[in-house]
Amino acid sequence: MFDVNKIRSEFPILQTEVYGKPLVYADNAASTQKPIQVINSISELYSQHYGNIHRGVHYLSQKSTALYEGARETVRKFINADKLAEIVFVRGTTEGVNLVASSFLDPIFQPGDEILISEMEHHSNIIPWQMLAERKRAKLKIIPLLENGELNLSVLPDLLTEKVKLVAVSQMSNSLGTINDVSIIIDQAHGKGIPVLIDGAQSIAHMPIDVQAMDCDFFVFSGHKIYGPTGIGILFAKEQHLLSMQPYQGGGDMILSVSFEKTEYNEIPYKFEAGTPNIAGAIGLATALDYVSDLSITAIDAYEQELLRYATQQFTQIDGLRIIGNAPKKGSIISFVLEGIHPHDVGTIMDLEGVAVRTGHHCTQPVMDFYHVPATTRVSLSFYNTKAEIDAISSAIIKVKELMG
Ligand code: ALA
Repeated sequence: MFDVNKIRSEFPILQTEVYGKPLVYADNAASTQKPIQVINSISELYSQHYGNIHRGVHYLSQKSTALYEGARETVRKFINADKLAEIVFVRGTTEGVNLVASSFLDPIFQPGDEILISEMEHHSNIIPWQMLAERKRAKLKIIPLLENGELNLSVLPDLLTEKVKLVAVSQMSNSLGTINDVSIIIDQAHGKGIPVLIDGAQSIAHMPIDVQAMDCDFFVFSGHKIYGPTGIGILFAKEQHLLSMQPYQGGGDMILSVSFEKTEYNEIPYKFEAGTPNIAGAIGLATALDYVSDLSITAIDAYEQELLRYATQQFTQIDGLRIIGNAPKKGSIISFVLEGIHPHDVGTIMDLEGVAVRTGHHCTQPVMDFYHVPATTRVSLSFYNTKAEIDAISSAIIKVKELMG
């Protein structure tokens, strides 16, 4: 059984109040809260085990190295990568995408080449490609959205020309909640020999991820969206790609030998981890992944789908509320607009009721343009939310209408 009360008791921040009201945290797509196990693992590292990694013969260095490399193994298992060498620690999804743009695509990208993304991408999966395309006089092409928030995959065969050198798409939209059937995209792209990057920033916390079954070439995600710390994330890349890629940054630990004439780079994945990394972040992330695994991602998914159904039902009963994004397959995200009321006012009044939601364009301005709205209010739910909290969110929305209507 999914014991939500026990789970909630493990997240200290969920016991707090804002403006004298119990906190209802519904901004999980922006960042998730941290269980005590994650907080303790970071505190224990610094109070008992901390030293720099890969560099010292002393006890603490070896202890920290073992914990850091153990974290890499936890990540490998969590996404079912074949090899440890395929797991690169980065700062987050954004750095993972930028790394692939610089080290994989840049060296092979020629003027006139194309990169294919979708209309629902987060800015972090648009701008690195756009910057590269501008530099190389290459082109960004877009898989269009349909009105219900799905991608129009019927045009995919036409878009996948021989000029396309990489496809980069999100598995779950942060502003619409849409879950994309990435297997269709990967199959068709691979049919034409084109590699695929999957942005797993949202999907990682809501569904089982198996990069081997998915057969993606690259998969990126951030630790802070799956109950881990900020400043740590993962780039998974197939070994064959990492072996052929240039380093992203130069510095300590990414080398085997250095002279002023020539430097020999370290083996993968260390070649891509220059400098002292986020040791505590990696260890906190591994603790978070263990926490999620112990709950079972399948059980999490089932519970969150039930919350999504309930919230959708409740919100659609509110007069003047229009949900943006009604794809048949969605994660636990509901974006909406309230007729005649700006989302920033909605968010501010809801905040005063203790309800934390995100308002704005959610770093997906093309999605807002598609729906002709400047912004939305977004409720994004996690396994620690409850139906009672959804009722509180509905009451807060009704309060907004009363005050602003
Ligand atoms: N990508 C994060 C969001 O959707 C910041 O809110």
